[in-house]
Amino acid sequence: MTRREILLLHLRVLARRGLLVEAREQVPEKHDTGLERRVLASKGRGLMKRKVMIVGIGPGDPDCVTIQAIKAMNRVDVFFMPDKGAEKADLGRFRRSIIDRYVRDRPFRTVEYRVPPRRRDCDSYEGAVATWHAEIGDIYGKLLLEHLSESEIGAFLVWGDPTLYDSTLRIVERLRAKGGFEFDYDVIAGVSSVQALAARHRVPINEIGRPVLITNGRGLAEGLPANADSAVVLLNADKALRGTDGELDAYWGAYVGMPQESLVSGKLKDIVDEVERVRSAARREHGWIMDCLLLKTPRERSSPHSPTPRERPARKRRT
Ligand SMILES: C[S@@+](CC[C@H](N)C(=O)[O-])C[C@H]1O[C@@H](n2cnc3c(N)ncnc32)[C@H](O)[C@@H]1O
Repeated sequence: MTRREILLLHLRVLARRGLLVEAREQVPEKHDTGLERRVLASKGRGLMKRKVMIVGIGPGDPDCVTIQAIKAMNRVDVFFMPDKGAEKADLGRFRRSIIDRYVRDRPFRTVEYRVPPRRRDCDSYEGAVATWHAEIGDIYGKLLLEHLSESEIGAFLVWGDPTLYDSTLRIVERLRAKGGFEFDYDVIAGVSSVQALAARHRVPINEIGRPVLITNGRGLAEGLPANADSAVVLLNADKALRGTDGELDAYWGAYVGMPQESLVSGKLKDIVDEVERVRSAARREHGWIMDCLLLKTPRERSSPHSPTPRERPARKRRT
């Protein structure tokens, strides 16, 4: 028997005794002394830490869920499902449909929790967000303690990619730092709305060798910073439509990847009215909207780092 086979056998025995829950997934191709150390440690204690998966599920198209996310979801015992109120019920339904469609290998439980609204009456935005995150952190703590046994894996399914414009990682890390009980977590990358938007418009996000600004609608009040040729606007994208340089090439999308998808592109000043019209009609119809915007300096005005002619002229397109 090779060392790897002996190790595998060892892991299977531990898994059967319930001492190790991740035997199958964690065995690397090559011998890994780190893994051996973890096995020995688990033998000594007889218990594993609770584990949390923070899984990116893409921007609303079930076909954008990655194989890595599917594999991770098929290891989960408890899915923690946010209830963000009636307005976001469609998003909740999407999360459920992802689980129903892709989780095949094991039984699981779902636990719903209410996401508290962010207070609007605080002095500073930062203060309000910190208080809100602390509240959500307390809720996460209770969820993990009350609904996840020590050898189980729980999951939060995060819209798009968990590392972009999402605070789950910050909240979970703060909870871990706070102590009280031990848990570990993994992050599974997802397709972000930014990538989906750029792909649907068939446009690269950055110009060659040039920086990209990722910001929210208010972050563009002053226009594009001098060193960036492109900006991606998430959250309140509508706020960036006016007050920003109208000569920029703009690529807007709402519900990107979803059945309700709308796309409009062209010079910002030429599309702003249409985007606002489409946006408010869609919001009225569906009760909620998620839209984002990619703005780019027209090639002729951009830096000498991007000398090639524009591949596709700015166009106005509605689908
Ligand atoms: C809290 S951020 C989450 C971003 C997410 N983590 C990601 O990677 O796309 C929510 C914002 O993302 C953008 N967004 C997310 N999904 C979208 C979609 N399917 N279509 C358009 N914009 C979307 C919107 O700007 C929305 O306000």
